This record gives sequence, structure tokens and C-alpha cells, in this order.
Amino acid sequence: NKVTVVDHPLVQHKLTLMRDKNRSTKGFRQLLHEIGMLLCYEVTRDLPLEMTEIETPLQTMMAPQIGGKKLVFAPILRAGLGFVDGMLELVPSARVAHIGLYRDPATLTAVEYYFKAPEDVAERLVVIIDPMLATANSAIAAVDRLKERGVTNMRFVCLLAAPEGVAKFHAHHPEVGIWTASIDSHLNDHGYIVPGLGDAGDRMFG
Ligand code: PRP
Repeated sequence: NKVTVVDHPLVQHKLTLMRDKNRSTKGFRQLLHEIGMLLCYEVTRDLPLEMTEIETPLQTMMAPQIGGKKLVFAPILRAGLGFVDGMLELVPSARVAHIGLYRDPATLTAVEYYFKAPEDVAERLVVIIDPMLATANSAIAAVDRLKERGVTNMRFVCLLAAPEGVAKFHAHHPEVGIWTASIDSHLNDHGYIVPGLGDAGDRMFG
């Protein structure tokens, strides 16, 4: 069960700024954008390279390029959108799949309201992105849905995870690695990550 906690000082510093309840909407959004880029850098760290022949102004050479089909970023709406622009800055040719899910406040189950993925999504590496992995109901539903479409190669990136969510996610989808900036203490009775940063969607969009 692979969980990578991205402990880079820039990520940890920015996460601390985001947790502060006095951080403005504008500041929160900007920080999410910046951390999105840093998490993207980490989640793509081991992508396979292929040697291809190119010509420099001086001579031909064999040089490494990322091989295979372009990858897909799959934000879980709404909060996952906060990561998309930063990640696309680093991987401009990536495709995007949108997964609309909200948590039923009473049952905390994930309810789907939108799903749109590239036609050939099954042939690509899909990086699912959502700032929060709380009960993991949303993340599990997102992976279920992508598996229905034939996707076999997935990774999950979040900002904060609850230990309960990590355990439940890997009980359902043990082969999908998680990248997170922090595993916090626990979930409270309302399914919020503690100490966490509140509701990421609300803090970003109001
Ligand atoms: C939040 C968050 C995740 C989900 C995590 O979304 O952005 O998508 O809850 O919780 P889980 O792991 O328990 O499923 P929310 O349902 O509040 O929707 P929003 O992003 O549209 O505000």
C-alpha cells in the first residue's frame, strides 16, 4: 500500500499557510495552485523515459523524453479544480477528466453529478486530484468510475489525508498509490479532517 508523504519544505510551508483560518480566499487559492505544481512534480517523478533521436544545433544525439500516451488529470469537483491549472503548467499536453461528486452531508456517501473523460482514457495514466481524502468515499467512487471505463493505471494526489481515509481507500483499491502533503490526526464526527484546514471547496470558492 503505497503512500508518499511529500515532505518538501516548500510544500510543508505552504500547507501551514493554508491551514491558517485567517488566510484569505485569494491567498488560499494561490497557495493551492503553487502546491499543485509541487505535488505534480512528485507524482510524475518516476514516469518512464524513452530515448529518442534529436538534432541539437551541433549534432544529433539520443535524448530522453516521457514515453507513452499523454497523462490525464482527473479533478474531483469542486475542490480538485484548484490543482488543475498548476499541474497543467508543468504538463501542458495532459488531458483532463472531470469527476463531479459531492458528499451527502447526512450519510457522507459520494453522489455523482457529472463525469466526462477523454475517449481513450483507458490507455492513459490517470492522476486523480482532490485536496482532501477524508472518509475516502469520494476517492473510492472516482476510482470505481474510472475502472468502469477500463482505466488500470491510476494515482491519487491530495493535500491532506485522514488515516481512516488512507486505510479505507487502500482496502478498496490497494494498487492505487497516494501522494499527500500530510496525514493528519483523525476525522471528526462530521467527516472533517482534524486539524485539517476546513472545507477546501468553501475556502476556495465560497
Ligand atoms: C469534499 C472534498 C472531497 C471530499 C472528501 O468535497 O473536496 O471531494 O469532500 O471527503 P471524503 O473523502 O469523505 O469523500 P465536498 O463533498 O464538500 O464537495 P465540494 O468540493 O464541491 O465542496
